[in-house]
Amino acid sequence: MTEPTHSQRVLSGVQPSGALHLGNYLGALKKFTALQETYDCYLFVADLHAITVWQEPAKLADQTREIAAAYLAAGLDPKRAAIFPQSAVRAHAELAWIFNCTARLGWLDRMTQFKEKSGKHKERSSVGLYTYPVLQAADILVYKATHVPVGEDQKQHLELTRDIAGKFNTDFDAPDFFPIPEPLIQGPGARVMSLRDGSAKMSKSDPSDQSRINLTDTADEILQKIKRAKTDPEPLPETIEGLTDRPEADNLVGIYAALTGETKAQVLERFGGQGFGAFKPALAEVTVAAMTPVGDAMRRYLADPAEIDRILAAGAERANAAAEPTLAEVKRIVGFWPGR
Ligand code: TYM
Repeated sequence: MTEPTHSQRVLSGVQPSGALHLGNYLGALKKFTALQETYDCYLFVADLHAITVWQEPAKLADQTREIAAAYLAAGLDPKRAAIFPQSAVRAHAELAWIFNCTARLGWLDRMTQFKEKSGKHKERSSVGLYTYPVLQAADILVYKATHVPVGEDQKQHLELTRDIAGKFNTDFDAPDFFPIPEPLIQGPGARVMSLRDGSAKMSKSDPSDQSRINLTDTADEILQKIKRAKTDPEPLPETIEGLTDRPEADNLVGIYAALTGETKAQVLERFGGQGFGAFKPALAEVTVAAMTPVGDAMRRYLADPAEIDRILAAGAERANAAAEPTLAEVKRIVGFWPGR
């Protein structure tokens, strides 16, 4: 094995565009917390991404504080990980412009998330929504991040980031300037589905609050939502193959596994053959035990917004110090004044 040429660095972000849910927690926040032990971590609140769709200006800063509070509540330590608002580090937007000139229209035309989010009214979407994945590439590469923990819905954006990094390195004859970052997606929590429909992603924008478990839900709300979660009439299978074509059962077993750190196979070893009448209370118990302390901690952090602001400002300072040298080098490589 060859020695890594880039130091191991983690970057990820969450948009301040609505209440966080169990999918965000299992697909992102829980992973961040584990990674801070071994990696240099940059974890930001993606407010530049959030304004690709309308955000109420009077609320945006508080929504940003809420994500920061969720990071802290999930166990991130600001002494280890830099936690900051994306808009407080100008280098993201500046590098995104340069990458707009590296990425190809054909690459962006393939992005399924734009198609989903723009729906039938593509021509009325913001230009920002279209170039959103290019900004995401800049977020990652401005820190020369090597690892990016995300949920499965971000996979295509990560592939685009890898393409942009490779094309930049080739176009400017700067081999290895940008690392080709590795997505960290694996695990049963990478794609948590709606509690009302096992074929739809659990999402902040789903109109039904019953479809998701919010980070701030009370124990009683969690119990009720799991009790009402859609299922099928069969008992749980003994093996994971038996979950094929049973999206709701697969999702609930996946949530249990992600929360307890087991594999789905291990969960089925215990619950295979039992009905949802037995499984749902067990699932509710582990969900309440994992999530209510996070919600309580979030409320405690939010009671002191000045402390959150201090953490965000300190994080932004560290992030700027890490991003500026990359941007300066990119400008030199591209040939901007005063020239190479
Ligand atoms: P966002 O804000 O939509 O979601 C934040 C994180 O939560 C994950 N996630 C899920 N994981 C499992 N199951 C689900 N149902 C689920 N829903 C959401 C997302 O995959 C994500 O990891 N574009 C990003 C934010 C971003 C970013 C970046 C991420 C901007 N720049 C650079 C990584 C690196 C987004 O909209 O995430």
